[in-house]
Amino acid sequence: MDHQNFLTLLDFSPDALHGLVRRAIELKAMRKAGTLHETLKNKILAMVFEKSSTRTRMSFEAGMAQLGGTAIFLSPRDTQLGRGEPIEDSARVLSRMADIIMIRTFEHEKIERFAAHSEVPVINALTDLYHPCQLLADMQTWFEHRGDIRGKTVAWIGDGNNMCHSYINAARQYGFTLNIACPEGYEPDESILRAAAASAVMLRDPAEAARAADLVVTDVWASMGQEEEQAHREKAFARYQVDAGIMDTAAADALFMHCLPAHRGEEVSADVIDGPQSVVWDEAENRLHAQKALLEYLLQ
Ligand code: CP
Ligand code: NVA
Repeated sequence: MDHQNFLTLLDFSPDALHGLVRRAIELKAMRKAGTLHETLKNKILAMVFEKSSTRTRMSFEAGMAQLGGTAIFLSPRDTQLGRGEPIEDSARVLSRMADIIMIRTFEHEKIERFAAHSEVPVINALTDLYHPCQLLADMQTWFEHRGDIRGKTVAWIGDGNNMCHSYINAARQYGFTLNIACPEGYEPDESILRAAAASAVMLRDPAEAARAADLVVTDVWASMGQEEEQAHREKAFARYQVDAGIMDTAAADALFMHCLPAHRGEEVSADVIDGPQSVVWDEAENRLHAQKALLEYLLQ
C-alpha cells in the first residue's frame, strides 16, 4: 500500500516529527490571524471511537472543518462494528469512502489489523498501548514555551500506560531524556522501554525522577477500560501525586503537562494543575493545530 499511517511516533522520522511541530505552530498563527486555509477541501475523515473522548473528537472534527473538509463520527453503539462486523471488513469498506481514518480503540493490535486492510492513511487516536497524537500537541506546547526539547529532561510520574509509552518514543524521536517513576507492577512495557534504553530511565521514586526536570508530566491512575481497578490503583499510586513538593524538586522554570481529563487530588494536586507552571490548556488547544498539521501531511 502506498500510503503512510500514524500508529506510533516511530512511523515518522525525527525530521518529519519536527516538521509537524513547526507546521502546527504556523497553522495556529494563521488561525489566530483569521486566515482561511482550506487545503483539504472535499476530503473526508472517518472517526471511529470505541472509547469516550472530548478533546480528540472536537479537535479532529473542528480541524477538518477548518481545513475545508468533513469529519464523520462513528461509534460502535450505532455501527456494525459494535455488532461484530470484522475489523478487516470495516477497514476495507470505510477506506473506499473516506480519504483518511482515525481510530480510538482498545488493543493496539486491532488498529494494526485495521491499517493493514485500509486503502487510506490510518491515525491512532489512542489505543491501550499508545497515544501519539497527544505527543504532537505536547511537543508543540513545549517548543512554543521553551524552544527545542533536545537535551532536556522530562519526568513521567505515574502509570506506565499508553501516554508513558508515547513519551518513551518521543524521547527517542525528539532527543530528550525521560525519567520514569512508576509503582511496582505498573511499569511500562519492557520491550518499548528496552528499545529506548539510551533515552529513558526507569526509577521508582517520584522525587528522584523529578529532580532538576524541565518538564513534569502525569496522567490518570486508571485509564479507560480500567475503571474497576480504580480503588486498588488509588492505593498503589498514593505516593505518586504531582504536587508542589514534586514541582519544587524540578527545575525552577519547569513546566507541568497532563493530557486531560485530570483528577485533582489524585495524580495531580489542584495547586499544580491550576498553578503558574501548568500549560495544560495550551496543550489541549494544540491538539487542534498539531492534528491539522498531521492531516495535511498524510493527505498531501
Ligand atoms: N487527551 C485526550 O485524548 O482527551 P480526550 O479523551 O478527551 O480525547
Ligand atoms: N491514559 C488515558 C489517556 C486519556 C486521554 C486513557 O487511556 O484513558
